[in-house]
Amino acid sequence: MRMTVPLQTSAARIGHDLEIFQTLAVSGPKTLEQLQKQTNAHPLTLGRLLRYMASVGMIDEPNTNLFAANKKCKNLANASAVTIVTHFFENCSPLFQEMPAFLSSKKYGDITDGKDTVFQPAYGTHLDTYSWFAQNEINKDALIKYMAMEQSVRGRWLDQYPFERESQGLDADKPVFVDVGGNVGHYCALFRTRFPNIPDRVILQDLQSTVAHAMQTPGVEVMGHDFFQDQPTKGSKYYHLGWILHNWNDAKSADILRQIKSAMNAQFRLFLASLDLVMLGACGSRERTVKEWEELLGDVGLAIKERIMYNHELCHGIICATLA
Ligand SMILES: C[S@@+](CC[C@H](N)C(=O)[O-])C[C@H]1O[C@@H](n2cnc3c(N)ncnc32)[C@H](O)[C@@H]1O
Repeated sequence: MRMTVPLQTSAARIGHDLEIFQTLAVSGPKTLEQLQKQTNAHPLTLGRLLRYMASVGMIDEPNTNLFAANKKCKNLANASAVTIVTHFFENCSPLFQEMPAFLSSKKYGDITDGKDTVFQPAYGTHLDTYSWFAQNEINKDALIKYMAMEQSVRGRWLDQYPFERESQGLDADKPVFVDVGGNVGHYCALFRTRFPNIPDRVILQDLQSTVAHAMQTPGVEVMGHDFFQDQPTKGSKYYHLGWILHNWNDAKSADILRQIKSAMNAQFRLFLASLDLVMLGACGSRERTVKEWEELLGDVGLAIKERIMYNHELCHGIICATLA
């Protein structure tokens, strides 16, 4: 069992802060002295950091105090790696660190309250995750960038549903796709790009503090909306809840579903994903089994029509639900 992964995340974060990976990836091998001049770190501290990075394969040390890029270093130099490392370091590591003490303090009971979970002691707050994120730019920025990366992978499900066929003949003034809690709008942009022949309205909804950072995509309307409030966009063909309900316990999830259901006249889809312990730590919530989805949807008068598993390895899938 490898116990060093948090230390590696920490070293990767330091490597990004000091631009070690980016430098070695573009400039070729550098001596400790050269890197010291570039970073202004103490040579002893920098030497220890670089040797640790070399020992775990993040960079190479072809000669004593000479450091060079390898494949992992080049990967770490990519913008996507900076995003992943920042997200895991800022938004996940404190949860993982706090989780044992928190669960022990709760005698390993069921965790269902987003205001009384690992998140609060981990970040020294009484706020729930998203209220706290709204006030903390670095964390919010890391989450937004990470979600954008995830969405481009998860967006594959758009290819597996007959949107074009089902949308034929719809009134072009009507909303067709409302992404509720859609973050900064990557799904809406994907929808627009993949279905240029669907003329109807595509609407991104999220908290005002999030949509303030929304992508500007032609043909996508941006709307600040709290999904616990009355759904302002009525009668859309599709409402999409991606990675939302796993943030909330059953009572809150039912509240969110009821708001959308009251606006629905057609089909509605939502995601199943595979981040269960992260959800416990961040939101006091969980991923659900099919039976649990059936119960939750049934409680608010919705029913599962179809399930599509589009990535078996990562357990990514969607459920398509309609009015029961
Ligand atoms: C895990 S992210 C999922 C983002 C996106 N749906 C996706 O699939 O990648 C959860 C999103 O819910 C939003 N959110 C949290 N509380 C909300 C609320 N009360 N009303 C609307 N959006 C909310 C957050 O701002 C964030 O964008």
